[in-house]
Amino acid sequence: MEPENGFIQEFKVKGGDFSKAGSISTEIKEILQEVGIDSSIIRRVAIASYEAEMNMVMYSRKGEVSFILDSVKILIKTSDEGPGIEDIDKAMQEGFSTATDEMREMGFGAGMGLPNIKKHSDEFKITSEIGKGTNLSITFYLEQQNKQ
Ligand SMILES: Nc1ncnc2c1ncn2[C@@H]1O[C@H](COP(=O)(O)OP(=O)(O)OP(=O)(O)O)[C@@H](O)[C@H]1O
Ligand SMILES: [Mg+2]
Repeated sequence: MEPENGFIQEFKVKGGDFSKAGSISTEIKEILQEVGIDSSIIRRVAIASYEAEMNMVMYSRKGEVSFILDSVKILIKTSDEGPGIEDIDKAMQEGFSTATDEMREMGFGAGMGLPNIKKHSDEFKITSEIGKGTNLSITFYLEQQNKQ
């Protein structure tokens, strides 16, 4: 793999499939480790991609994760088909969650996923359409001076 030319990998997510939950963020983490990315960046990417992946497992019918790495940045893009998010500002608040009792029993539903994605990334964009789905764009710069 040659990061200077860019590297892209796409993953599919099946809504409701908790058996594979976390496998995408694990794969992304392994790729970043192989390439020798700074461990503090890997940690942030792993947290954000795990939360994005879990939200798709919990709330969408299906979705895709694109992982893009080039010499400047790591970009995680997600796109799902699902109910969408009615009030994004509310969803971004710490503690807001519509998780079911079943999800809470599995340890989810603290309402910290989206706030943590924002906190751990350099750039975070979220768009959503009711009845259609949700898209995230999460960027991590490899060097602080590349931050916009
Ligand atoms: N991809 C998505 N599709 C539809 N709704 C979503 C999606 N992602 C998040 N949401 C909505 O936004 C809320 C907040 O998401 P967030 O990840 O912050 O918390 P959570 O998933 O409820 O709990 P936690 O992530 O702490 O386990 C969710 O409860 C859900 O209502
Ligand atoms: Mg979540």
